Amino acid sequence: MHFDIWVVANDLAAATALSAGLASLGTVTALDLEAFATYQMPIGATILFDVDLEAPRTISVLRTGLKRASGPQAVIAVDARNRRHKVQADALGAAAVIVRPLDRARLLKTLEGVLARTPRPRADASPTPLGAARERSVPAPRLDPRDAAQSVGLAGAVLNRLFDGLMSGRPVDPATVTAAATAVQDSIDRVGLDVWLSAVREQHAGTYQHSLLVTGVASVFAHHLGLDKADRKQIAVAGLLHDIGKVKIPLQILDKPGVLSPAEFHIMKKHPSIGAAYLEAGGGFDPVVIDMVLHHHELLDGSGYPDGLRGDAIDRRTHILTVADIFSALVEERNYKLPMRADLAYRHLVSMASEHKLDPDLVKDFAPVAGEVTVRPLRA
Ligand SMILES: [Fe+2]
Ligand SMILES: [Fe+2]
Repeated sequence: MHFDIWVVANDLAAATALSAGLASLGTVTALDLEAFATYQMPIGATILFDVDLEAPRTISVLRTGLKRASGPQAVIAVDARNRRHKVQADALGAAAVIVRPLDRARLLKTLEGVLARTPRPRADASPTPLGAARERSVPAPRLDPRDAAQSVGLAGAVLNRLFDGLMSGRPVDPATVTAAATAVQDSIDRVGLDVWLSAVREQHAGTYQHSLLVTGVASVFAHHLGLDKADRKQIAVAGLLHDIGKVKIPLQILDKPGVLSPAEFHIMKKHPSIGAAYLEAGGGFDPVVIDMVLHHHELLDGSGYPDGLRGDAIDRRTHILTVADIFSALVEERNYKLPMRADLAYRHLVSMASEHKLDPDLVKDFAPVAGEVTVRPLRA
């Protein structure tokens, strides 16, 4: 029997700290309250809330979120001396309350009690489709694929904050993004790229899915190229961030089947500058990362955007991200197109290299990375 446990706190750092030590119970994912407000909980999830029960917005987020989820078991932390908290937790339908300060042993015991009564735990069969799809020469996952689901959950929650932050003009803490990028890299190291990508496809669609795929593919590519740790981290962080400017692009342009009109393309081409300007304004992001976000659509022959940079004017790390970005976009399913097979997507990169748009040596080095990717239909 395996359980999905979600830990929700006022901020991600607190949720992550609280999650530590709960992994023996199941797959644990940390979320801040804002991410929880927009996140769809899986069926039968158990959710631990350590949030401010005095804030009216918190109560309304919990009420709506718990209604939206199917069969969730909520465990809510309350202050011992505050009777209203207990009433509030009961009104929210808490399966259990736990009194602050939260002590690890008591927390484990309370959660175990609730999990024992959970009527619909997540099906234990979930690793089967992931494992079964790996018929090719890719080695078997070295660890449980649920490891991937956890890092995908965390990175997805961070993306949520990023997109929301750009929409509302709120800055995002760079350390949060770096922590998510590191979690992605560590998880891929453990389970392999293909298993990790499967988890992305299962949990996310659209621009989130794209950003996560690019992060995974670019991280593995950077690793394969033997880049040092600092460069690899910057590439993973930029992978998460590269398309955040798309939040300001109208959906009818973003999701348009077929070729964009010149006027639509003019708008679409603004997304790198919008994203880079947001990161710059927020402060604290590495200038290399901001440059990668700004220039991820530049091509070696100068036909890219926004600055039409050529050849060596494009940072190699940025070009690595570009290769991963193009490949990921091709192998993704979007609501207007089917995924392209990885070998055909790779052939497309080769033809772009022959047109002097991509670096042929880099494309050659990408071959084993493309070979690790099995393309399956979304939600197979
Ligand atoms: Fe882009
Ligand atoms: Fe992209």
